[in-house]
Amino acid sequence: MNKYSTLTRILGWAAGVAIILSACAPAATTVAPTSAPPTAVPATPIPPTVAPTAAPQLKGDAIRGGRLYDNWVKVLGVDTPKGNQALWAKQTTNTRAGLDTWRCKECHGWDYKGVDGAYGSGSHKTGFKGVMGVAGKDPSAILAILKGSANPDHNFSALMNDQALTDLALFLNKYLMDSADLIKADKSLLSGNATAGKANYDGNCTECHGPQGLGINWADQVAPQYVGFLAKDNPWEVLHKIRFGQPGEKMPPMETVGLKKAELADLLAYSQSLPTSSLVTEGGVLYDNWMPALKKDVPAKDQPLWAKQTTNTRKGADTWRCKECHGWDYKGVDGAYGSGSHKTGVKGLAAAAKMNDADLLAWLNGSKNADHNFSIYFGEAQMKMMIAFIQKGTADTKPYINADKTVKGDTAKGKTLYTASCARCHGNDGTTIKFGDPAAPQFVGTIAADNPWEFFHKALNGQPGKPMPSGLNLGWSMQDVADVLAFSQTLPQK
Ligand code: HEC
Ligand code: HEC
Ligand code: HEC
Ligand code: HEC
Repeated sequence: MNKYSTLTRILGWAAGVAIILSACAPAATTVAPTSAPPTAVPATPIPPTVAPTAAPQLKGDAIRGGRLYDNWVKVLGVDTPKGNQALWAKQTTNTRAGLDTWRCKECHGWDYKGVDGAYGSGSHKTGFKGVMGVAGKDPSAILAILKGSANPDHNFSALMNDQALTDLALFLNKYLMDSADLIKADKSLLSGNATAGKANYDGNCTECHGPQGLGINWADQVAPQYVGFLAKDNPWEVLHKIRFGQPGEKMPPMETVGLKKAELADLLAYSQSLPTSSLVTEGGVLYDNWMPALKKDVPAKDQPLWAKQTTNTRKGADTWRCKECHGWDYKGVDGAYGSGSHKTGVKGLAAAAKMNDADLLAWLNGSKNADHNFSIYFGEAQMKMMIAFIQKGTADTKPYINADKTVKGDTAKGKTLYTASCARCHGNDGTTIKFGDPAAPQFVGTIAADNPWEFFHKALNGQPGKPMPSGLNLGWSMQDVADVLAFSQTLPQK
């Protein structure tokens, strides 16, 4: 793509905008006395570029079109169409099935270049052409292609309404960006200054992804994925998402803010500089419940040490959770689990927090006690997470949570944090997601009141198997978590 064609396109849009503006402007008959001096050059009339009989200009949201290109099923909230997209059968190299086969990006690429771009090799290769060829073209003609004019198998009109298809056409007309001068084939960047990108990251991304991009892990604890990971692994995808937002989420599209290409490059460079792991909180999630976090089945028998106690009568999965024996407060028999139905009599982790890596590993792989062996389930990476959590994540909550479960926190401050980071899933009153027994559902408010230590742990580290943010990685202090907890105790409990 050369400068000339880009310039042509810019001029093209400018002309289009001018036409719309002049068409929409009220007939201005009088000129304010303070207006431009008479020396001002009179506006050159725009030569008519379209025949008078041309179809009316398409109207829509080209930025939403970018999100539709990413994943229209998610944006529109519709069911995934049955089977694979008809054109999928024309290729054999990409073996995905179902939803992926319907996403525009899967066939045409995050770089819009299809077989001529990043998807020209690897598991995403389909061999299909890109969409760069329609950049700047008449949106009505693009719309026709999406309705199957060139190929009946490329007809999306039964699946999306006209507005969605129009938004897509406007996106393809206006926003296809050639990133060849920005991202190299090996994913490193040709331009972009990470230091310069920090301000835009801090201003636009930190609220949800945290100062280090570790706020949301949208994968699992087998191979966690954060902004820093994806920016290095698929910079084209991240550039697209930065510009247009995340389908189905309130992530702000930077095209709305109007960042220039160089500023987008800086933001991408900064994203690539962010860390790709957060051992402490990843370990915290494993401590809570490693089975869903690692997508592992519950072991067939109870944890062998379970038989050494009789006070806690639970069975199965619970017997394998670190928290069930060592407590949400990490104090075992000396803490909240020192009495009641969860009592096992097992010690807490206060001494363990001072142990070195080798000793902790020996505890986790069965060398210290053959019945305390998690090495069948944890790989080296998970052992590192667990060790980091025990050493750095098992903080004492005593300064914030009283023995009677009341909390030393500021509910007003907590409400602000809750509204910014938790309400999008749990709702403003915490009742959108129900946990536990459907007959007697529990909510955020229930957990906060019944088990403030559990709440504290989850708010700091996240929820196993779910993309729930980690307060610690959002940059929250312990007091911030206590504030959110105090506020959550005011929410409905049933
Ligand atoms: C299953 C793969 C697949 C999916 C999904 C897909 N396309 Fe296509 N697309 C193709 C193929 C193949 C062609 C070439 C078709 C032809 O003309 O025979 C094409 C052609 C196009 C063209 C014309 C390009 C040109 O230069 O002529 C546009 C524009 C386009 N697609 C946009 C989209 C959009 C927008 C979506 C999402 C709603 C989409 N496509 C989804 C495979 C796909
Ligand atoms: C209002 C909250 C919010 C803001 C602000 C925000 N994001 Fe996101 N972002 C999300 C959510 C929610 C997801 C989806 C996570 C998931 O899939 O579970 C997401 C996903 C992502 C993804 C991964 C997409 C995927 O699933 O593969 C990237 C990369 C990303 N965001 C980068 C950014 C960058 C860079 C910024 C700043 C320009 C930003 N986000 C601003 C909420 C936000
Ligand atoms: C079924 C109950 C149970 C479960 C589940 C359990 N532990 Fe333990 N853990 C114990 C017992 C009992 C001991 C003491 C064993 C001994 O003295 O030989 C212990 C000891 C430890 C120690 C050494 C503490 C010290 O001060 O010597 C650490 C560290 C530890 N566990 C971490 C974990 C982690 C991390 C998990 C989850 C992956 C976990 N435990 C799961 C019962 C359990
Ligand atoms: C991406 C959506 C999402 C966000 C944002 C979110 N959560 Fe959650 N949360 C969940 C899901 C999903 C569950 C699990 C429901 C289940 O296990 O059935 C959950 C569970 C919980 C639980 C109870 C877990 C249990 O198993 O008893 C608490 C407490 C909680 N969240 C607190 C919070 C707090 C505090 C915040 C803000 C820092 C937050 N959540 C933000 C999705 C989210």
